[in-house]
Formats: sequence, structure tokens, C-alpha cells
Amino acid sequence: MQNYSVAELLQAKHILQEIDVKGWVKTFRSKRFIALNDGSTIKNIQCVIDFENTSEEVLKKITTGASVHIKGVLIESKGQGQSVEIQVSEIIILGESNPDDYPIQPKKHSMEFLRENAHLRIRTNTFSAVMRIRSVLSFAIHQYFMNNGFYYFHAPIVTGSDAEGAGEMFSVSTLDKKNPPLDENGNIDFKEDFFGKETNLTVSGQLEAESYAMALGKVYTFGPTFRAENSNTSRHLAEFWMIEPEVAFNDLDANMDLSEDFIKYILNYILEHCKDDLEFLEKRLLDEEKSKPMIERSELALREKLKFIVDNNFKRVSYTEAFEILKNSKPNKKKKFKYPVNEWGVDLQSEHERYLVEKHFKCPVILFDYPANIKAFYMRLNDDGKTVRAMDVLFPGIGEIVGGSQREERLDVLKEKIKALGIDEKELWWYLDLRKFGTAVHSGFGLGFERMVQFATGMTNIRDVIPFPRTPQNAEF
Ligand code: 4AD
Ligand code: MG
Repeated sequence: MQNYSVAELLQAKHILQEIDVKGWVKTFRSKRFIALNDGSTIKNIQCVIDFENTSEEVLKKITTGASVHIKGVLIESKGQGQSVEIQVSEIIILGESNPDDYPIQPKKHSMEFLRENAHLRIRTNTFSAVMRIRSVLSFAIHQYFMNNGFYYFHAPIVTGSDAEGAGEMFSVSTLDKKNPPLDENGNIDFKEDFFGKETNLTVSGQLEAESYAMALGKVYTFGPTFRAENSNTSRHLAEFWMIEPEVAFNDLDANMDLSEDFIKYILNYILEHCKDDLEFLEKRLLDEEKSKPMIERSELALREKLKFIVDNNFKRVSYTEAFEILKNSKPNKKKKFKYPVNEWGVDLQSEHERYLVEKHFKCPVILFDYPANIKAFYMRLNDDGKTVRAMDVLFPGIGEIVGGSQREERLDVLKEKIKALGIDEKELWWYLDLRKFGTAVHSGFGLGFERMVQFATGMTNIRDVIPFPRTPQNAEF
């Protein structure tokens, strides 16, 4: 007997004697036909039971969700819908699944219901397809950077700095919550805490990545990041994964080139390597679209949408140009935007980003040279004194998918900036050191991994592209 995965069996070119396969029952019909899946592919293999020679007791246990060990012969199928099937010689029930209790029945479940059963939802076709694509996308990301001379850098998860300066951090502490030690001013004395200072979960590995880029040249992080922003949207998670390349000697133009090339590579990779899963998700979306009014329907099918990104240049537009477009746009004039665009310097909201991408340019957009006061302290100041070398990549249906910049490499300018923002210079002593010793132009960006998985799979809610989502009021599992 030889062990096979379902994927291997479905690809077999000839009859295989004495095969052995383990998996879970998807459906069982007419007391004869099992649709078996083991996670290796979205497709099931049909296993045909010789029910006359199978005991009633065993037949009763072949239910949706049960795990089974099947021995038999792989033959050409006479039925429709599959080219091969297994003629079962022996079936062993490994783990029963009581159909009265098992939540994942072979029918359509709501996404909300599946989120409440996040430990079992991976057994549905939709989630297994999404999570296989998520896995392949991760591999493609590593492959892209490895092919291009980058080193994988592991940023710390616990940190003392607030990289984005937004103050949306989860604190890490072992102090007694009910009775914390206090200093002479009555404030919590973090000197007595585990790390001897106030620490939190990282919001970004960028600052540490900059330290490594200034010696290894090209590095990238790929790890979890945490934000305690109370945003209950379909694009925000409290725990999400971010990819952050950081490159010495790259200016903003090179940074934009890198982001575009990188995104095209990884999307093309899944187009080539996730055909079955993408086909399934595409069909799922088309079915969903049918219930929508005509004008809301997407013009492109899922794979066409991915291909469109791969094949077309991203439009590069300065904040100031984008501001003018938005200011003079129909929805702005008709007061259709929730946040009106009147004064140069306003932060752009996702409604504005999506207008630019979906209505105006109709392609991915890279916005650059943002007003300094709406961006983080570390971005390089332009000669105009009011804009910084920031860049955001905006995607259809998603809005901001990448945020990045050329970093301020001039010690005096950076110090000024830090002072103006009221940040204590001492806290960033090591970051300033990078500008004292062999400073150089450098740039990087952060890609929100889940937003990319959302785009790649067409899932509407970010909670459905990460295995166990963490959002406000929700950390079950
Ligand atoms: O624009 P952000 O805040 O940029 C940074 O953190 C920089 N330090 C990156 C760098 O230059 N190295 O975040 C980067 C991306 C966003 O564009 C978005 O895709 C994603 O991270 N992101 C989130 N994804 C899910 N949930 C959230 N709460 C997110 N916040 C940001
Ligand atoms: Mg951003």
C-alpha cells in the first residue's frame, strides 16, 4: 500500500493498485459515493463503496466531517464530473462526526456564522481556498525578496518605541494591575516592570529594519504587527501581518518601482500556482454578483482583476494633483463625500482613495509627496518645507494597501522634526545614531498582508482572510 494525497491521485495518469488515502468526508450519497477531501486541493476525490460488503454500522458513520482511512484501487471514472475515482476495498472510520452537532453542513453558511466557528470554518471550500492562497502568497513574497538580494530580517515583537507615532499600542507588562508600583509623582513606575521601561507590541518593524538596512543593504520583515485602533471596518485588524522592505541608497522613485514590481510578481505567482482555488473563488464571486443590482457589479472577474494589475502601470500622482482632482470632483461638489476636500493638507479618507482609483484613474495609483503634518516623523522633508517623500499605493476595492517613504537621513532635520512633535529625543537615541554614523539615503514601505490577501481572493471582509482575526471585542480561539 502506498500513501497518496487527494491532489496526487487526481493527477494520476494511469490506474493505481493498492492505494491508501486519508481525509474527511465532504458528502456521502446513495450509500455509495463519498466525496473525500484532505486539504491538498479544493477538489474532492470520489470514493465508491461496495455497500453490500460494508456493514450497516460503518455506513452509518460515514457522515460529513468524519475522518476516514480508505484503501482501494484508483480507476478511470465512468461517471460524470471526474476523470478518476477510487474503488474502495476497505474503509476505516478514524473519527466520527455526529451530523446532529457538526456545524459545517454541506450548505451555504453566512460569513458571520463561520466567524463564530473560526476553528471549523477552514473545512469549507471558501476558507480552504483562501488560506491555501494566503500560504502560497507568503512563499511568493519570500521568493521575490530572495531572488532580488534581500535578507529576511526578524523585527522584535516587543518594543519600547512607537514607530508610527500614532500611540495606538497594546502595552506589555507584568506589573500587578490591581496594585502597581508608583513613582514619587504617583504615576506607574515602569522601572519596576519586566523590561525596566514601558513596552508595547510593535506597530511596525520599520525603525529596526532601518538599522539593518544600513549594514545589510536590502532587508525585509514579514511578521505580525499590532494596532489598538478602534476601527471596526472591513479593512482593519488589531493583529495583522506586514511585509516591510527597507533599502539603503534607494530614493522615493526606486521605492515606488520596488513596490510595483513586487506586487506584480506576487500576484502573477498566484495566477500561475493557485489556478484551482482562484477558479473556485471567481465562481463564488460571480454567483454573489448575480444577487447585486447591475450598477454595483464588478466589470472584471477575479482573475481578470489580478491580471489587470500585473499587466498595467500604476499611475503615479502627487498629493497636490490628487487634491485638485478630488476638490473639483463631482461627489465633492455635490457634497457626496463624508469628508469634504476643500483645504490643501487634509488627510485623505478611504472614500477619496477609492474615488481616485475606481472612478478617476481606473487603475492602481501611487500617491506621493504628502503634506508633512499628516505623515509620520521619519519621512524625508522636501525642499518646499511642507511636503514629505511619502508614498501610498492605492488599490481598487481596498484603498491603501501600501504605505511607505524615503526616510529623513539628515540628522539636523530629523532632530528638528522630533522636537517639533514633542517626542523625547532620548527615546530615539539609537535611531538618531543611524544618522550619525554613515548615514545614507534610504527608503522602504509596508504592505498590509491581509489587505493583499483580500484583494487576491476577492473576500470583502478582512476578518475572513486571517485564520483567527483579532478585532475590538473579539479574541476568541
Ligand atoms: O501605512 P502604515 O501605517 O505604514 C507603516 O507602518 C510603515 N512603518 C511602513 C514602512 O514604511 N515600513 O501601514 C502599512 C500598511 C498599510 O498600507 C495597510 O495596508 C496595512 O499596513 N495596515 C493594516 N492592515 C490591517 N489592519 C490594520 N489595522 C492596518 N493598519 C495598517
Ligand atoms: Mg498608512
